[in-house]
Amino acid sequence: RTRLRAVLLGCGTVNSGVLDGLAEMSGAVEVSAVVTRRPRPGKDGRTAWLTDIRDAFDTGPDLVIDGLPDCPAAEKALELAVERGIHVVSANKAVIARRPDLEVRARRKGTRFVYSAAVGGGVPVLETVIRLTSAGERIARVRGVLNGTSNFVLGLLEQGTGFDEAIAAAQAAGFAEADPSADIDGLDAAAKLALIARKAFAFAPDAASIPAQSLLSLDPGQVCGARENGLRYRQLAELTRLEDGTIDARVSLTALPEDHPLARPENEENTVEIVCESGLKVVLHGKGAGRSPTAGAVLADIRDLVEAGEV
Ligand code: HSE
Repeated sequence: RTRLRAVLLGCGTVNSGVLDGLAEMSGAVEVSAVVTRRPRPGKDGRTAWLTDIRDAFDTGPDLVIDGLPDCPAAEKALELAVERGIHVVSANKAVIARRPDLEVRARRKGTRFVYSAAVGGGVPVLETVIRLTSAGERIARVRGVLNGTSNFVLGLLEQGTGFDEAIAAAQAAGFAEADPSADIDGLDAAAKLALIARKAFAFAPDAASIPAQSLLSLDPGQVCGARENGLRYRQLAELTRLEDGTIDARVSLTALPEDHPLARPENEENTVEIVCESGLKVVLHGKGAGRSPTAGAVLADIRDLVEAGEV
């Protein structure tokens, strides 16, 4: 079998874990280049550490692994990859949600454009939705906590920590986005809803138009007070198929009884309920953010590609 030549875009929380995982994949993937602002060459002399994305594409990759934050460079890089017929594995929910055309163009070209790490980190949310629809289920509703940073911050607010300190702690833990306002304002969850909607309802809503309530609209005292009364605030993301067939999407802050399944996720955990029109209900719970669950999902996408003999 030919070795897959891959370029890693970014080497932060996600891709540093991916790089370690690839080293253990018995040589099925050769990393031709890693693009990062601060190159730090490792032991493998075959890997070029670069700062320029175009130079990395010149190494002739079969696959681009995108672990970049939401930024114009990431969007350009995915565009270039699709244009050149290079497979894409990405964890970049914001860019993928903003550019539904990239997936469509890749499909037309017959190249893979996959992003299971973009929703739920280590929790197989998109995989489960795809599987259910393949099984002939019609999905009626998807509801859950899709952002770990919001739990982490709400948990600290419950203990009396201020917003700024709580957000800084979420960043230090490696859960928050490079720009944590995406987590706090609900835009990260909205982007994830947009990706789920694509797989669940074959519909690509504009993430920016999904109504989202910011954590900053809560008074920290309100969060503490709710906790004392047996209620926990959670950032809930919901997609509902309405009777007229349209899809309602929203991200809201809801105080739930502490024994409610959707009040359960702590810190980086996500919980998602998928309800089908047949009455079938699937509940997923696990680590939705952070280095190893997210890198694990990226590596799973890469293994699928290797096993499908896509090179
Ligand atoms: N910032 C995201 C979160 C990372 O906190 O859930 C995982 O997508």
